[in-house]
Amino acid sequence: MAAQLIDGKAFAARQLAGITAEVASLPFQPGLAVVLVGEDPASQVYVRNKARQTVQVGMRSFEHRLSGDISQDELRRLVQQLNADPAVHGILVQLPLPKHLDAEQIIAAIDPAKDVDGLTITNAGLLAAGQPGLVPCTPLGCMLLLEDVLGDLTGLHAVVVGRSNLVGKPIAQLLLAQNCTVTMAHSRTRNLPALCRDADILVAAVGRAELIKGDWIKPGATVIDVGINRVSGADQKSRLVGDVAFEEAKNVAGHLTPVPGGVGPMTIACLLRNTLTAAKRQHDRFDV
Ligand SMILES: NC(=O)c1ccc[n+]([C@@H]2O[C@H](COP(=O)([O-])OP(=O)(O)OC[C@H]3O[C@@H](n4cnc5c(N)ncnc54)[C@H](OP(=O)(O)O)[C@@H]3O)[C@@H](O)[C@H]2O)c1
Repeated sequence: MAAQLIDGKAFAARQLAGITAEVASLPFQPGLAVVLVGEDPASQVYVRNKARQTVQVGMRSFEHRLSGDISQDELRRLVQQLNADPAVHGILVQLPLPKHLDAEQIIAAIDPAKDVDGLTITNAGLLAAGQPGLVPCTPLGCMLLLEDVLGDLTGLHAVVVGRSNLVGKPIAQLLLAQNCTVTMAHSRTRNLPALCRDADILVAAVGRAELIKGDWIKPGATVIDVGINRVSGADQKSRLVGDVAFEEAKNVAGHLTPVPGGVGPMTIACLLRNTLTAAKRQHDRFDV
């Protein structure tokens, strides 16, 4: 039987409508600052989209486009200014940064209360400890999709392929918090196909085009494909594919996210959701 496709675009649109309504009801306007260093074309597209959607939900967008040769100190000073600016509730430094800059140090300079990408050690620690913080956007988006499709995840075996701080690790923490039994796989994992075949929920966050084949998937499993890989087809035109071999998987899985149109649209929606959460917390903290 063909898998039911998980429509991330439609789900994200519903999320954005909810955020817009909530922003309109606030007595203040949340603000998101996005910092872009250099000329990376993909990052420029992401930043443009983020700024457009920030304004569309009624928030203020502060864009900082900096020259690729900015120094570590100058960039850190900008982050500190944004930390101190009461109109800015969320700060996102677009990654990757140019090689001469130390991204870890810059992320560490962001006030955890404004870290809407959820990348500071403080927010990673809060997530691991099961305490409220700010959760990385793509993992949060994956969880919202999973809960929408499956409801209660208790007792399900989730296999997460990929262990990055940005995607794999936070997704595993979120699944664990929802009472899944979680297995994490990575490039050194032995017999990956058999491991995947045991998953009720299979999350692929690898960055290897169509690594996960149809016969690695348990019939009826829910498959979340985080991967975004650009490949060139037989016609020499480039297209985006995920980490899952979609045409094979759709005959086996119960539910499946397409690429594009699955997890991708959820990321910006969750960034704005995090900005709203951060703004409300900051406002509550000072409004006594
Ligand atoms: N949809 C979105 O909005 C969104 C957001 C972020 C990322 N992404 C996409 O998600 C993918 C993963 O991103 P990332 O930042 O997590 O990537 P990453 O930092 O490169 O991490 C990749 C992970 O995959 C593992 N891996 C690599 N080859 C493997 C193999 N053959 N078998 C099993 N595991 C393997 C690596 O294992 P080791 O740790 O052992 O090296 C690593 O843990 C990329 O395609 C990225 O573009 C999408």
